[in-house]
Amino acid sequence: MRQRLLILSIFIFLGAVCYNCSSPHKKLFQQLASQKDKSKYPNEDSELALLMREMDRDMKAIKKAIVNQQKIPKVLKKFKAIHAATPTETDMKTPQFTTLAELLLTNTKKLYKTSQPQRAYNRMVRNCLACHQSYCPGPVVRIKKLMMSESSQ
Ligand code: HEC
Repeated sequence: MRQRLLILSIFIFLGAVCYNCSSPHKKLFQQLASQKDKSKYPNEDSELALLMREMDRDMKAIKKAIVNQQKIPKVLKKFKAIHAATPTETDMKTPQFTTLAELLLTNTKKLYKTSQPQRAYNRMVRNCLACHQSYCPGPVVRIKKLMMSESSQ
């Protein structure tokens, strides 16, 4: 009896571990889906679209923090979900997409280590644009507005 319980708990433990490593970002996507404003976005959204909207909000928050010389919000973990997020069109995730996404993550890491956050932030915005010019031109104008002035440096 004891042994059975032990085996059962090992299975539950392994199951939990596997679930977590196969979908560490699922919770985030579920959270974003439940938080979304359905009056503004009535249609079913892909995980990638939900994540992108959140990234757009995060970029605005980062910009504000830089302007006000406050602590920059930590977004790297969330942005990493770009690799796991399912897009609307499944053939979108090409090797080029992965490279462009990785570039954004590299520059996101640099944002927290630089004495010139304006410049690092704008580099991230250019990464957003680089991918959007190839994969999703719709929001390009909106993303360009995220750029900030570097003249104060
Ligand atoms: C590696 C490619 C890539 C990068 C980098 C990228 N995007 Fe996107 N973005 C996409 C794709 C593809 C979609 C369409 C998602 C879908 O329909 O599933 C999208 C959608 C969007 C949308 C529209 C979401 C909606 O449906 O309402 C916004 C806004 C957006 N991205 C902003 C950004 C911002 C801001 C950044 C930079 C922080 C960024 N994106 C970086 C590929 C990218």
